[in-house]
Amino acid sequence: MQFVTSTEALASSTTDCLIIGTFEGKKPGPELTELDQLSDGLLGKVLKSGDFSGETAQTLLLSAPAGLACQRLLLVGCGKKKELDARAWRKISEATAKALLATRATKALTNLHSLPLEGQDTAWMASQLIEAIGQASYRFDKLKSKGKADKPPALKRLAFLVADQEQESQLKPALSQAEAINQGMKLCKDLANLPGNVCTPSYLADQAEALGEEFKTIKTSVLDEKAMEKLGMGALLSVSRGSREPAKLIVMEYNGLKKGAAKGKPIVLVGKGLTFDAGGISLKPAAAMDEMKYDMCGGASVFGVMRAIAAMKLPLQVVGVVPSSENLPDGAANKPGDIVTTMSGQTVEILNTDAEGRLILCDALTYSQRFEPEEVIDIATLTGACIVALGNHAAGLLGNDQALCDGLLAAAEASGDRAWQLPLWPEYDEQLKSPFADMANIGGREAGTITAASFLARYTREMRWAHLDIAGTAWKGGSEKGATGRPVPLLTRYLIQRAGK
Ligand code: BES
Ligand code: MN
Ligand code: ZN
Repeated sequence: MQFVTSTEALASSTTDCLIIGTFEGKKPGPELTELDQLSDGLLGKVLKSGDFSGETAQTLLLSAPAGLACQRLLLVGCGKKKELDARAWRKISEATAKALLATRATKALTNLHSLPLEGQDTAWMASQLIEAIGQASYRFDKLKSKGKADKPPALKRLAFLVADQEQESQLKPALSQAEAINQGMKLCKDLANLPGNVCTPSYLADQAEALGEEFKTIKTSVLDEKAMEKLGMGALLSVSRGSREPAKLIVMEYNGLKKGAAKGKPIVLVGKGLTFDAGGISLKPAAAMDEMKYDMCGGASVFGVMRAIAAMKLPLQVVGVVPSSENLPDGAANKPGDIVTTMSGQTVEILNTDAEGRLILCDALTYSQRFEPEEVIDIATLTGACIVALGNHAAGLLGNDQALCDGLLAAAEASGDRAWQLPLWPEYDEQLKSPFADMANIGGREAGTITAASFLARYTREMRWAHLDIAGTAWKGGSEKGATGRPVPLLTRYLIQRAGK
């Protein structure tokens, strides 16, 4: 799908679908007057009929409107002018995307993004609409032998109306950024939606190699269990021992700096890549256990971000690290009470084998130090407690550097891919005490998201570090089951800001 700017005249446009936003009212507002006149009062009649009032996110499709050159006219309600805010805009974007993709229009033209929205510019508005189209056009039916979900969307090209060159040059970069974010989200969702018998650690490693082939700016390397053994990754390998699939430590190094530019310090992203988490010997209950194929969503989001920033050619150095394993019960699996030695030298008493994410992440975080990072951000479906705390609206954010957390929070707000910070006070860390090892891998029932982060904090003392717990945001269950592609928008937006773009 292409997203472009256009200076076409609305009224004479022969586009397949003209998308026009209008505020609530009984008569056509100023944004509709010209079209209303050309169509001999059609829009006035529509409003008078009561079928369409222009309330937020209401849509009405008119086919072959007489007097206009377009094939279809899609009216989009934007509510009361004073009430149009970021949240309403997202609803409007979703409704527009759905209504547009339900048509067979291949080309569309819109001026929706030029409505007045306090605190946001047209570039932001267009980005949100493009993202909504990415979401609405996503299908995952490659494993169905027949009866594919439904017809693929017909839309090939959406043009955003601009008044002049200045507007055009303001909007253009935002369009290509949003398109790249969509590509990244699609990759993230595709990997995440694959079942555990297809998407194994080795499969993820192959996908990382493929990304390295596709982009000259990405260099992929994969550590196998032998290499990890040498490095002393006792915690990561202890999780993998309960599975027949060998663990992989996937490393994707992106360098978008100009040739010959001085090497700087990279930003390292570490994503939890549990391709299936049955809990191990501390086995999970059967209900909805299938959803634990999504326990690699942190890793999938790292893939997505790498693709997005490579497509955008962001002038940055970013390293993606994805420790990947299964967590299954087996004769060789971790047992409650086992004590393992991590790559950092610290020892861990494993009181619950289902708290495996932190075991693979701690070694990956220690490993990250070799890149002399500017900062490290880990992303993980780490705790059910995070869903209890924040539901599926926000990711949990914790870290040891407030400037880094503030940057992530700002990107979360800007992208609509929200996060909420939780405290990392030393009192919580005390819950990890063990009589036999340096620490236990669980901290009891209370504040589960924070004690999990406190565990990781013990492996990141020398770095500026932040942690995103995406257990509630990475996928949806129930009838809408599927990966969401989050937090690719948040992280990509953050990196765009870091690149000063
Ligand atoms: N992958 C799970 C966390 C999870 C659970 C994410 C449900 C999304 C939905 C993680 O490995 C896990 O099992 N965590 C345990 C930790 C506990 C044993 C301290 C949990 O949250 O129950
Ligand atoms: Mn688990
Ligand atoms: Zn897990």
